[in-house]
Amino acid sequence: MVTGKGGTGKTTVAVALALSLADEGRRVLVCEVEGRQGVSRLLGTEALPYEEVELAEGAGGGQVVGLAVEPRAALVDYLDTFHGGVLGGRGGRVSTVLDRAGAVEFIADVAPGLRDVLLVGKVYEAVRRTTTGRSDGGDPVYDAVVLDAPPTGRITRFLGIGDELAQLAAGGPIAARAASVAALLRSEQTAVHLVCLPEELPVTETLEAAAELRAADLPLGAVVANRVLAAPAAGGGGEARVRTALRRALEGTHGDDDGDGGRDVDALVAALETQNRVRAGRVAEQRRWLEAAGGTGRPVRELPDLPGGVDLEGLYRLADDLAASPLPTPRDRPAAAAPTGGAA
Ligand SMILES: Nc1ncnc2c1ncn2[C@@H]1O[C@H](COP(=O)(O)OP(=O)(O)O)[C@@H](O)[C@H]1O
Ligand SMILES: [Mg+2]
Repeated sequence: MVTGKGGTGKTTVAVALALSLADEGRRVLVCEVEGRQGVSRLLGTEALPYEEVELAEGAGGGQVVGLAVEPRAALVDYLDTFHGGVLGGRGGRVSTVLDRAGAVEFIADVAPGLRDVLLVGKVYEAVRRTTTGRSDGGDPVYDAVVLDAPPTGRITRFLGIGDELAQLAAGGPIAARAASVAALLRSEQTAVHLVCLPEELPVTETLEAAAELRAADLPLGAVVANRVLAAPAAGGGGEARVRTALRRALEGTHGDDDGDGGRDVDALVAALETQNRVRAGRVAEQRRWLEAAGGTGRPVRELPDLPGGVDLEGLYRLADDLAASPLPTPRDRPAAAAPTGGAA
């Protein structure tokens, strides 16, 4: 599960994570549930349909498959699986009946939790699916399933739907399904990764989300600090050398014969130094927030800010970074620092 404050890079990290796993030869499903088509936009492919389509290949037979889970289709899926007999077992008719009755809209309005259980339920089904189609045998079809999940503001509710529905529909098939989904989400098979930027608001929201998820017994993976700036060239004597080299280079291009050139060079050097200082300040500020993110009690993994934005090349660069230092799962014990907030 990849969550985080909106706009911090959830979709980018989810896809990079899927690519990194595929490069280890794994068959990976990347799902989105928000109807934004962020995955296909990022990869420059056609919009994802409600069916699994191959998106990329990794080394050693690895593969990334994409799926956009959509509540209406998930509901039809669910009814076909569990109530197919009751409704005559003809998939086409189930959706026709639903459309005529406005059932999907009704469900979305009256029981938003049910909408979520259908979305997560589809992910659950993909996790559990085996090559033989039976739950008691065969190999899993996917080695990993990555969910580009809703943002931190909604994640606990989204993943906690099991409890709510188990009470709401006690005894029925939906309650049973909700309980199985809840059990998977709380198992060590699941890791909720929190994407943030090294800034005050995203880090604050990440600390809150970590406490909330912990209290709900949901297993935390890593904090992924995205868009971390590279530190400018170190000072300490080096600065004077850089200044001299800079001056020499600038004098080479601007000339120093007319009496003005010298001052131009001075102004340029000063401007560049100011820029460098501003950047150094931003880097130092980021370091403080990266440290604060450690208050979640989970390891903080840094991903670089890509100055040109996230094109395909940049995406693979992030995937390489994640492959070089894989995201920890809940099985990996927290770092020495104990959580500073929330329930233990
Ligand atoms: N490491 C990065 N470097 C530069 N730009 C980034 C990076 N990660 C994400 N972005 C940009 O930030 C924006 C938000 O990213 P996105 O993955 O869509 O976030 P979310 O899914 O959380 O809304 C996009 O424009 C994306 O290209
Ligand atoms: Mg997104």
